[in-house]
Amino acid sequence: MPFKDFFSRQARKPTGIFGRFFMPAFFNKGNSALNKRMTELVAANGNDQILEIGFGTGTVINAMAHGLTDGTIEGIDFSNAMLNVAKRKNRHHIAAGTVSLTHGNFDEIAYPPEKFDTVCSGNTIYFWPSPDATVSQVFDTLKSNGTLVLAFVDERKMKNMPLNMGIFRPISLSSVHELLKNNGFSCIETHPVNGQESAMYCVTARKQ
Ligand SMILES: C[S@@+](CC[C@H](N)C(=O)[O-])C[C@H]1O[C@@H](n2cnc3c(N)ncnc32)[C@H](O)[C@@H]1O
Repeated sequence: MPFKDFFSRQARKPTGIFGRFFMPAFFNKGNSALNKRMTELVAANGNDQILEIGFGTGTVINAMAHGLTDGTIEGIDFSNAMLNVAKRKNRHHIAAGTVSLTHGNFDEIAYPPEKFDTVCSGNTIYFWPSPDATVSQVFDTLKSNGTLVLAFVDERKMKNMPLNMGIFRPISLSSVHELLKNNGFSCIETHPVNGQESAMYCVTARKQ
């Protein structure tokens, strides 16, 4: 299998020794600017109830947990390799009851309606088989006035990356706006990361 296919599969769902020991370094380095901005935009504090979809190494969850007093952060990721890495990184927050991490596919979990103040996800939208279904499910699980924060690389940059575009499905900023609008979100705002040239964005949207 060509390396770009192998790597793309690992990025979608890290597995085995490579997933456990090599992918964390790629995620932590390659995704750090997007994840830092996503953490700032979530601005976790007080008693917020937060969900992160596809937490990877659990770096964002670890950073967000410091802002909470009585709140909780749930994370879901369908990679066992990432679950192990993130559990270790967040062991103190887990022991304190601030963080709980679940192994599973977000699309297959029935979260209670209106449970979360904020749902966030970084670098996962490319892998969603039905973006409409996933965004609609996020909408349902958000409280009224809740916020969705999505972080991603725009298709104009991603198309030039050495990745398998059957596994990564690049998406444009305007398509993300449309997707969110079509599924009931409003106050949709773009937050470029490292300037427009980098083609990396966080998009925030409100359920009203
Ligand atoms: C490219 S990695 C990004 C990890 C992290 N968010 C970051 O930006 O560094 C994608 C992660 O999302 C997880 N993932 C993708 N689709 C998922 C889904 N539908 N449900 C749960 N986890 C998912 C993968 O297992 C992987 O850990």
